[in-house]
Amino acid sequence: MTYQILVLNGPNLNLLGSREPEVYGHETLAEIMSDLAAEADKMGAAVRDRQSNVEGELIDALHDARTWADGVVFNPGAFTHYSYALRDAIAGIDLPVIETHLSNVHAREPFRHTSVLSAVCLGVVAGFGRNSYAVALDALLRHLDARAQGENTGR
Ligand code: DQA
Repeated sequence: MTYQILVLNGPNLNLLGSREPEVYGHETLAEIMSDLAAEADKMGAAVRDRQSNVEGELIDALHDARTWADGVVFNPGAFTHYSYALRDAIAGIDLPVIETHLSNVHAREPFRHTSVLSAVCLGVVAGFGRNSYAVALDALLRHLDARAQGENTGR
């Protein structure tokens, strides 16, 4: 069984590599996503990644994931902190979503301490730099495996 996973990246994450490297690191999004695809392969999963700076396109990607994905690793960028539309999209699709951040948002500016999405996500991973994606993917796959065995490991 190969799990199909959407890895979705929101606004400004296309600038990774040059954007505030002291916060987000020096790797580009393409490098991080290609390494994640290799990790996923070892973990028995297939990932498709998408990035958009547009809230509506992220909502459409979440809706579309209902037709093919088993779960979603989602870095919503700054939308994390205020997008009720993305919250409703996550709540409206019957898929486990892991909110994922490169930086430890709780150690940063106060506006980043609030997420309007966490409550409708399976869980949250933040603060491990590029490794946050692999940690989130691992947690998601463990959840899907446990659920397939009939165990209850969250939403
Ligand atoms: C981020 C954290 C957000 O607060 C910020 O707006 C981002 C990136 C992260 O990955 O650490 O764009 O989601």
